[in-house]
Amino acid sequence: MADFLSQYSVQRWLEMCPQGYLEDTVYGRGADDSEPAELLDNEVLLEASIATTVQLVAGERCALAASSALVNLAPDYPSKRFLATQTLDEARHVEIFTQRLHDLGVAKDDLESTINRYANPNLVKFAETLLEKVSDGDFVAGVVGQNIVLEGMAFTVFELLEATSRDMNPKFARTLQGTIADERRHVGFGENRIGSLIQQYPEKRRDIERMQQEMSYYMLATFADVFSSSAESIDVGQKMAADRSNGSEDVEWHGAQLGSMSADDLEAILGDTVLKEFKVRLGRIGLEYQSPKAPV
Ligand SMILES: [Fe+2]
Ligand SMILES: [Fe+2]
Repeated sequence: MADFLSQYSVQRWLEMCPQGYLEDTVYGRGADDSEPAELLDNEVLLEASIATTVQLVAGERCALAASSALVNLAPDYPSKRFLATQTLDEARHVEIFTQRLHDLGVAKDDLESTINRYANPNLVKFAETLLEKVSDGDFVAGVVGQNIVLEGMAFTVFELLEATSRDMNPKFARTLQGTIADERRHVGFGENRIGSLIQQYPEKRRDIERMQQEMSYYMLATFADVFSSSAESIDVGQKMAADRSNGSEDVEWHGAQLGSMSADDLEAILGDTVLKEFKVRLGRIGLEYQSPKAPV
């Protein structure tokens, strides 16, 4: 517990995060960074970027609701303190991705209607599955659902988006780099704190595995929806990146060449990467990964 205390203390969070990698950022990016003109001037890319950012805001709103509720459900003070820092991280994520919607031209008055219009219904179900456990007061299921499943997914999605944005959109890539660092800390807490609680409450195991299976189903269904509707924007983005880089090397991610992959292949590699991570992380806390049924 001594290691746990210092690794996840508020002091450590201050040093690493606000006084560390977030120092000098403004809404998570450099003070002078802006969205590239090529994106703002291209209707297809602009709408796709708004739609993608809405999924990020929806996911982060769920993480904010879950982590703030978990503060009060946590059985010990080190966990409460960590979850309080996580609550602020998630509030920041909601804020910076909301700010990105405004940077992409969404007016303040149109924010909620834009989110309602683009938020994927399967992602909404994913969030509801987690928030149901949290509102039932189930701390162990809540931490597995949030810090392993939701954040395992978010972490990998952010990494993929960061890899595709690094050359074309340094502003968005920088915003993502800070959130990736935060999510890495959150996932680490989930793994470190929850293993012993699972051992303490073995009767909860089956129910938590069922939640993971359900959340994984809605996640894969979200990926299927998002990629099937983004073939055109992926194509436009890849052509633009190829023109700009003038034949220089392709961006690689988990062994895949992102600059030339189809939407279907991207969906497959993202899904595989997230599920592989789930298996490893769940195994470490003593749970067995349950395969979801294939989304239709
Ligand atoms: Fe987050
Ligand atoms: Fe998080």
